[in-house]
Amino acid sequence: MNVLVIGRGGREHSIVMKLSESNLIDNLFVAPGNAGMESVATCVPINETEIEKLIHFAQDNEIGLTVVGPENPLLEGIANGFHEVGLSVFAPSKEAALIEGSKSFAKELMKKYKIPTASYETFTDANKAKAYIIEKGAPIVIKADGLAAGKGVVVAETTEQAFQAIDDMLISKAFSEAGAKVVIEEFLAGNEFSLMAFVHGEHVYPMIPARDHKRAFDHDEGPNTGGMGAYAPVPDITDEVIQYATKEILQKAASGLVTEGRSFTGILYAGLIMTEAGPKVIEFNARFGDPETQVVLPLLKNDLLQVFLDVLDGKNPELTWEEQSCLGVVLASEGYPGPYQKNTPLPALAGESFVVYAGVNKTETAFVSNGGRVLLVGAKRTSLEDAGKLVYSTLPPNEELKGFFYRTDIGKLKEDTLK
Ligand code: AMP
Ligand code: GLY
Repeated sequence: MNVLVIGRGGREHSIVMKLSESNLIDNLFVAPGNAGMESVATCVPINETEIEKLIHFAQDNEIGLTVVGPENPLLEGIANGFHEVGLSVFAPSKEAALIEGSKSFAKELMKKYKIPTASYETFTDANKAKAYIIEKGAPIVIKADGLAAGKGVVVAETTEQAFQAIDDMLISKAFSEAGAKVVIEEFLAGNEFSLMAFVHGEHVYPMIPARDHKRAFDHDEGPNTGGMGAYAPVPDITDEVIQYATKEILQKAASGLVTEGRSFTGILYAGLIMTEAGPKVIEFNARFGDPETQVVLPLLKNDLLQVFLDVLDGKNPELTWEEQSCLGVVLASEGYPGPYQKNTPLPALAGESFVVYAGVNKTETAFVSNGGRVLLVGAKRTSLEDAGKLVYSTLPPNEELKGFFYRTDIGKLKEDTLK
């Protein structure tokens, strides 16, 4: 079978690496991909949201299955477009992807189907929003309703910060339409983890849990980023909690979406906080997480293409996992998530770790940076600690890096998410 993966980041590199191990694949394409993926897949210069062009490419190249990485094409209806012409795609329709595309939709779904989450209200009026903030008090969480590339969430420690977030979103329109509506929700305390599952309608097959480190700097300081590192599985999250979250969160969401006439096919991602009352949802995504995927897929023993095909066929893919830990640290451009320079030559990495490329480009002589998150250095070992040691032995010390930085505490348990 010929297979096409859509996207250009570390997540997609990880997906093509895993797919490249499959014996069932004749040709593996990635659109648009990045220079670091060229050794495992053929990069096709079509952007993620050029849906018509992607459809023509899939038809011309007899693509048997397309797998979609990022959220934007999902919400623009890439799965709907592929289905209309009879092409097979492992991705949710835009109607189902709304679970990621609209926080208020996701919250209503959770309320209706009794999925544990933070209590909330939705507002479009700044004065009413502020009155609610005064009533509830800080800490409190303000979220832009629509897609905001991971920047639309403000965990406000004070009422003033919450007011500022309301002014930014509802009055200054910092996120334009995505922030014209806001969800204000209860602050939840506890350790976060991510649980992803392969989903087709009512059928839910969970992966192992992972933990992402979202803040830019050590000790969870600095701004939120797309994710600075991750590990899987998560030692402080028990099998019991995973079973509970699968049944009470992922399964209820999948079944709820079927009932709503928005049946979901693809990867359903629950961002969870382990509260004293059990796991609660902070967000749903309609796709693989980044960088969680880079540490989860290396532990999957199954043929990933066979998993996608089985799930689409309504069959249990019988997922099996290596009894190991996988840890990954992101090398980012200095300045990220703010402005940063591109075209900086990548540092030399020496060691047995694996490298997953994200924001990279190739000149005639070298790989250079081309994005905020440049690459992820990962390792698999029998213990999380050993995986971490191996990764950190591969990276040069931060002080020696020119134009890049990484967090030195990936894999260390944080006590609280609010500093
Ligand atoms: P999100 O963009 O939805 O993943 O949110 C970004 C980060 O904000 C999360 O990783 C959490 O650390 C934090 N967050 C979101 N919602 C809440 C909440 N209700 N309580 C506490 N922290 C939250
Ligand atoms: N790592 C969080 C996300 O993919 O949204």
